[in-house]
Amino acid sequence: LNPSASIVEYIRHSAQRVENYFQNQISHDHIPPRLLEAISYSFLAGGKRLRPTLVFAANEAVGGKMDSGLPAACAIEMIHTYSLIHDDLPAMDNDDYRRGKLTNHKVYGEAMAILAGDGLLTHAFHVLSKGSRLAGLDAAVIIRMVEELSTYAGIGGMVGGQVKDLEGEKGGVHSREQLESIHLRKTSDLMVCALRLGGLAGGATEDELSVLTQFGYSLGLAFQIQDDILDVIGDEQKMGKKVGSDEKLHKATYPALIGLDQSIAEVNRLMDQAKYQLEQTDLKRDRLLQLANYILQRDQ
Ligand code: IPE
Ligand code: IPE
Ligand code: MG
Ligand code: MG
Ligand code: MG
Repeated sequence: LNPSASIVEYIRHSAQRVENYFQNQISHDHIPPRLLEAISYSFLAGGKRLRPTLVFAANEAVGGKMDSGLPAACAIEMIHTYSLIHDDLPAMDNDDYRRGKLTNHKVYGEAMAILAGDGLLTHAFHVLSKGSRLAGLDAAVIIRMVEELSTYAGIGGMVGGQVKDLEGEKGGVHSREQLESIHLRKTSDLMVCALRLGGLAGGATEDELSVLTQFGYSLGLAFQIQDDILDVIGDEQKMGKKVGSDEKLHKATYPALIGLDQSIAEVNRLMDQAKYQLEQTDLKRDRLLQLANYILQRDQ
């Protein structure tokens, strides 16, 4: 892609590469056709593809070769998609629309939606490890990437955050610190992981990884606060999912705890912080900064 391409084109290009790669990764004789259909339905339904784009932009920022991050970008988006399928289940947020289409369980039934999520989660690790090996990455680097993905997406990371989010529905979240810790786990961790995997695939140093991590936590928290805000004032058509879901479920959110205006101010503060953290470094950070600005202006 031309370095002068806009960030919108950069995201579109990243999305295209990940979608093509994904389709090659799921062509397999032994997958039951209905499972393949359910998995593809949600993965290929669209979505902003921000996490794979973070992988590519972080990879570029540390001077990596773009293809080295492709398996990681696909694996992260697979885990993200599984988290959305499960998040929408009746036992969780009970939502009917996602990415502009009916949710997975509405089309394929709950059992298949659970298994499609399980399949995406498990196969993500296959794609990451095998794809990175074939891309010529060092074995030690691949093991580190697998370790990090399982940590950030797992019980002390995204899954743990989803548990705290559900517990938050019953009340008991009264402080900013408590709410922040839910959001950092359920959302920021996977974004941080995307940046770190992109960095690792590109040969990042530990110092570079910690810069990417700090940036990711600020960006990820801002992103989830925006998601909370958009659940109040967003446009369903643009978002591809119903609004008002959080209030109905008595979710602990930023607008509920500190009000809309303060939530918006917090998004701006965190984004400034995220950008400042990057500007203090000599990473090739243009795409990451553009991505932060793009996310800041999002309405979907
Ligand atoms: C939705 O993520 C779930 C959250 C963590 C808020 P996105 O808003 O990135 O969803 P897609 O991938 O674009 O559908
Ligand atoms: C989802 O948070 C976070 C995940 C890990 C999936 P939400 O429940 O607010 O996401 P949406 O609003 O349904 O996309
Ligand atoms: Mg949820
Ligand atoms: Mg939800
Ligand atoms: Mg939400």
